[in-house]
Amino acid sequence: MTNETQTRDTAADQPETAPTDAWRAAIASRKTQVARETGIPSVQAPPLEADMSRRRFIRASFWAGLGITLLGSVGLFLDFFYPRNVKGFGGPVPAGKVSDYPKGSDPYHNLEGQFWIANLDPAEARPGGAGGADGFMALWHKCPHLGCTVPWRPEFDYEGDKGWYNCPCHGSTYTKSGIRVFGPAPRSMDTMLVEIDAAGNITVQTGSVTPGGPDNPNRAVLPPA
Ligand code: FES
Repeated sequence: MTNETQTRDTAADQPETAPTDAWRAAIASRKTQVARETGIPSVQAPPLEADMSRRRFIRASFWAGLGITLLGSVGLFLDFFYPRNVKGFGGPVPAGKVSDYPKGSDPYHNLEGQFWIANLDPAEARPGGAGGADGFMALWHKCPHLGCTVPWRPEFDYEGDKGWYNCPCHGSTYTKSGIRVFGPAPRSMDTMLVEIDAAGNITVQTGSVTPGGPDNPNRAVLPPA
């Protein structure tokens, strides 16, 4: 082995400490520099009063928004369900003129308004007659028992007298003024408010229903003199 070869081997066995230390020093100096330049700026806490007023504002906004939403919902609900210009059953239903109904004639069925209307004659004293009623009476055609539609049956014979309202469902029977005389119905037929103007036009307020009772004949309405 020559002297030159021995010298090369000895140099290769030596650890290269000098360059590594230099890199470490360089990296450390750069980190320090970056940290000094890009440090997190200090945060200033808002004053307590400003924070409180902001919270109050947010809370007030929330409740105001909620209130407006609720008010809008209620308004829409009322607007939708408020009855306007109700026509047909539930509202005023025209029923012709006084002259269309001869006194004491059979009742007329108004399907639109769901009522029977008659010009009752107090002189019709038979058992199934007017019961002393004088004038116009509108009877809701719905049976007070279970709600079947009650027909006027001029040929129906009850206790030797012809002409009654007679329910086809369970047989409840009523006079021409709606007084119950037979059957399971809990009361007489219900009446509707009758209005007659000076010209003799009849209007039945089908939304104004009074439960039937023994005073049904007193509810008959005479045309204006
Ligand atoms: S529904 Fe009319 S008597 Fe029962």
